[in-house]
Amino acid sequence: MTPLNNAAIDARRIAATPRGIGIGFPIYAERALNAELWDVEGRRYIDFGSGIAVLNTGHRHPRVVEAIRAQLDRFTHTAYQVVPYESVVSLAERLNKLTPGTHAKKTAFFTTGAEAVENAIKIARAATRRPGVIALGGGFHGRTFMGMALTGKVVPYKTGFGPFPGSIFHVPAPIALHGVSVEDSLRAIDRLFKADIEPEQVAAMILEPVQGEGGFYAAPPEFMRALRRICDSYGILLIADEIQTGFGRTGKWFAMEHYDVVPDLMTMAKSLAGGTPLSAVCGSASIMDAPAPGGLGGTYAANALAIASAHAVLDVIEEEKLCERAQVLGDRLKARLEGLRARVPQISDVRGLGAMVAVEFADAHGAPDPEFTKQVQARARDAGLLLLTCGVHANVVRFLFPLTIEDAVLEEGLGILAAALQA
Ligand SMILES: Cc1ncc(COP(=O)(O)O)c(C=O)c1O
Repeated sequence: MTPLNNAAIDARRIAATPRGIGIGFPIYAERALNAELWDVEGRRYIDFGSGIAVLNTGHRHPRVVEAIRAQLDRFTHTAYQVVPYESVVSLAERLNKLTPGTHAKKTAFFTTGAEAVENAIKIARAATRRPGVIALGGGFHGRTFMGMALTGKVVPYKTGFGPFPGSIFHVPAPIALHGVSVEDSLRAIDRLFKADIEPEQVAAMILEPVQGEGGFYAAPPEFMRALRRICDSYGILLIADEIQTGFGRTGKWFAMEHYDVVPDLMTMAKSLAGGTPLSAVCGSASIMDAPAPGGLGGTYAANALAIASAHAVLDVIEEEKLCERAQVLGDRLKARLEGLRARVPQISDVRGLGAMVAVEFADAHGAPDPEFTKQVQARARDAGLLLLTCGVHANVVRFLFPLTIEDAVLEEGLGILAAALQA
């Protein structure tokens, strides 16, 4: 048998699967461990993307593998809503305690991040009996119809897929770097209430505390406080989408802990379950109980293997002190990037909360530089480092390496990055 090679599989992929599923790197995974991945040709890569923020605890953490194995020996699927199991109840109890706020909370589990977002909006509408939802420009909330409607970036997520669900409104995200102040964003909300929808018809405002796909921009604390005030004065629910920011990435369990604001509902997914599909909505008990029995659920919601994996993930984050580790790793990365600024004039910004760090590139005129960003990504890949980009202008490299990454592997990756930036 001829050994598998990337080019041959890629030719088959192009013939057998639609182009709409865009591929980041045409290398085919064979195996992975912690922050390293090997392709079918035996080439090793350092993985600074973690399957898009899913592997805060690394590829195949032994505790996660063991938990999934143990569950495999018991049962894989009963459909939780047909025959439930205790591990879901105890995971809900853990998340109710871990999430910001000491009030009574409840948690419902689903499969993907987009599904969590869909359900958060369903719950908010059922609780408030109002239709409207306000989201931010540049925000990303998934690829389902409500996810697309809420997402504030057209290409490639919304192109050709409309019409989208109604009663969804966007205001610009406050990003000082791009000339949008907190006051500008708040004025846009005020204008929305006068021109498009009365606040008493708005069920929820949804935002990522740090925009993920949008470019790793953290919401300013005064903006978050203002949103809370607006929500409280009109009976609007505040939804924090923590799908990308959660589970230690920003140096705390959840990015909302960086703010003195408690959301009414929170969505989570990705690093919740260490590489198995699981998402959740957690929020005030009375709000979560608004939908009638049968209104929430899904065949695979709260899949038993994913729930077992999530328990192990929470144990690992706790025991290996990954929130503290995220801060150390993020500080180290930011210092390295800052040190490169003098030699890489394209670097226009280095930012981040904890290990949720990004570097942004602009050309000599200060305009976003997606070309240079692409070149850096390609050069790093050729040298064995996988980097993800993001940003409405695709001019940002984001760092999402496992928080369990070994120091030596991190250093090796940073060396490749420095070379890719200066080539
Ligand atoms: C903030 C945010 N919300 C929602 C989603 C959608 O999650 P999924 O791709 O699991 O549906 C993502 C995925 O990148 C995300 O980053």
